Amino acid sequence: MDNIIEAKDVWFHYQSESFEEDAPIKEVLKGVSLDIKRGEFVAVLGHNGSGKSTIAKHFNAILTANKGEIIVDGINAADDEKLFDIRQRVGMVFQNPDNQIVATIVEEDVAFALENLGVDPAEMRERVDNALKDVGMYDFREHAPHQLSGGQKQRVAIAGIIAMCPDCIVLDEPTAMLDPIGRKEVMKTIKKLNRENGVTIILITHYMDEAAKADRIVVMDSGQIILDGTPKQVFKNVDLLKEVGLDVPQVTELAYGLRKNGIDIPDDIITEEECIEEIIKIIEKAGK
Ligand SMILES: Nc1ncnc2c1ncn2[C@@H]1O[C@H](COP(=O)(O)OP(=O)(O)OP(=O)(O)O)[C@@H](O)[C@H]1O
Ligand SMILES: [Mg+2]
Repeated sequence: MDNIIEAKDVWFHYQSESFEEDAPIKEVLKGVSLDIKRGEFVAVLGHNGSGKSTIAKHFNAILTANKGEIIVDGINAADDEKLFDIRQRVGMVFQNPDNQIVATIVEEDVAFALENLGVDPAEMRERVDNALKDVGMYDFREHAPHQLSGGQKQRVAIAGIIAMCPDCIVLDEPTAMLDPIGRKEVMKTIKKLNRENGVTIILITHYMDEAAKADRIVVMDSGQIILDGTPKQVFKNVDLLKEVGLDVPQVTELAYGLRKNGIDIPDDIITEEECIEEIIKIIEKAGK
C-alpha cells in the first residue's frame, strides 16, 4: 500500500490578530509527521484545541504549513498551481451539513461542483446517480434538502464529495450535530465507502465508539501526535488518554476498572461482544 498523504514535520501557527509586533507566536502544530496509506480508515482523536481541524485543513491545502511538508499522492500541497489536483484527490466534509448544502434540490446539490468543473452532462448524470446510490440517498434525489434529517443531509454532502471521485475523504466531526440515528447512518456510509469503494477515510471524532471502528487511531495533544496504532493498541493507554482529557470506550473502561480490582481480564477490550465473552469466562471460572 502506498501513501496517499504524507505529513513531514509540519509546524503551523495562525496569523496573530494582535497588532503588537512582538506578540508571541502560538504554535498550533508542532512537528506533526504522519503517513496515511491508500485505503486506510484512520480516526483522529484529541481534546478541543489539540490541532485536529488544523492538520485536516492541511490535507487539502486550505492551510499551508509554515515549516515541513504535506505531500498528497506525490504532489507537494504547498504548490499553488497544484491546488486543483490536491482538492480533486482529497475532499472535506464538515460538522454542519446546513453549511455545505448549496442547492434547493438534492441532485443539483450533488452536481454543483461537477458543473463548475465543466464535466459533460451524461457523465455528470452518471456520477451524481452513483454518488447518491453510494450514500443511500438516490430515492431522495428530487427532494428539497431542507426537508431531510441531519443524517440524510450529511449523506448528501458526502455524495457531493464522492461525485468528485476523490481518493481520500477527510471528515471533521461529521456526526457531531446528528441524533443517534443520523450518526449511525453516516458511520455506516463512511465504512461502506471505505470497505467497498476503497476510499481512504480520515475521520476526526469525539466519539470513542466511532474511533473504535477505524483501522487505526491517531491521538493528538497540544499540536503533536502522542499515540498512533490500532484501536486495541491505542485504547490500552487508559491513563494517558485520561491525562489528555479523552475517554476510552465504555467497555474498555469497565475492563480497566475490573483489572484495577484484581480481576484477570484482557487490557485490549474495545467491543461489547469481546467484553461479554471475557466476563462469561471469568464467571464460569469462578463457578468451578
Ligand atoms: N482561525 C484561527 N485563528 C486563530 N487561532 C485558531 C484558528 N483556528 C483554530 N485556532 C486555534 O488553534 C488551536 C487548534 O485548533 P483546532 O481547531 O485545530 O483544534 P481541534 O483539535 O480541531 O479542536 P475541536 O475539537 O474543538 O474542534 C486552538 O488553540 C484554536 O484556538
Ligand atoms: Mg476541530
